[in-house]
Amino acid sequence: MTALTQITETATYGFTLAPSPQSPRLLTLTFEEKIVRAFLEAVGEWPIQALEYKSMLRFRVAKLLDDICGNTLQPLLIDTLVDRDTGGLLVTPEGLDRVEQADDMVKFATAVAHCFGRSNFDAMSGQYYARFVVKNVDSSDSYLRQPHRIMELHNDGTFVEQDTDYVLMMKVDEQNMEGGNSLLLHLDDWRELDRFYRHPMARREMRWASPPSKNVGHDVYHPVFDVDVEGRPVMSYIDQFVQPCNFEEGNWLTDMSESLESSEARLSVPVPVGSFLLINNHFWLHGRDRFTPHPDLRRELMRQRGYFTHKQTLANPKHT
Ligand SMILES: [Fe+2]
Repeated sequence: MTALTQITETATYGFTLAPSPQSPRLLTLTFEEKIVRAFLEAVGEWPIQALEYKSMLRFRVAKLLDDICGNTLQPLLIDTLVDRDTGGLLVTPEGLDRVEQADDMVKFATAVAHCFGRSNFDAMSGQYYARFVVKNVDSSDSYLRQPHRIMELHNDGTFVEQDTDYVLMMKVDEQNMEGGNSLLLHLDDWRELDRFYRHPMARREMRWASPPSKNVGHDVYHPVFDVDVEGRPVMSYIDQFVQPCNFEEGNWLTDMSESLESSEARLSVPVPVGSFLLINNHFWLHGRDRFTPHPDLRRELMRQRGYFTHKQTLANPKHT
């Protein structure tokens, strides 16, 4: 059963699934407030620190949420995230929309993620998730926290050795914000995919190195393109951290970057406070549009990246 055929059946369990206004590939998954409240009550004995210290509890909160949803949530998430036709969700837990509820937001997102996966250690925060703030002025060493320019389309996990099957990006707070929509591109909507995927450079091993704030400390080597278990193209690419070794590589990468950034299939998605995007990282690229400058601009985000625990997607996964 595909995710969309389940739409009518899920409403009775307190959540609904529907195509987003931006694209039929991006689905909206909305949890009614009564579900969110029942979940927070069920997990009330565990502060966020308990989930940080005990990995097993992340799976227990996932089970509690799935139980509240009549055990229909887990199969829906497992199937949707590996469904090549969709593989992307904008998730909204109703009633969770104030920064004071940040810990509850992390709990809810953790429960959703651990229905189908396990979130990796995030070296930037030293936890399985990371919260970070974007302000009007920035002195960091990558474009992650710089507000006045586009963060170009990319995949996550390009410079780490763990599989990064999914990316979850949650909006925790937003003040004096204008612009800054999330940008998304599904690989199969990119008109020039074949031009780059079929190029000999597509399978050349390249070096990927990150700046000091990422706390990774060593380089990794892999090509930009790979194939999934069904032989379809997948990508692992980010413009800021690829280190081309010569003229040929550098110019091929720049051509590809220009093609991605000018793609008419790129989606611009507003993410309200408390909502999160959840995407298959192998065939969705993501980025962020620029913000309008404001002296008191503040945006706080929470992210989790991890691997699928139920279905293999890559032909050559890094973990076994
Ligand atoms: Fe990213």
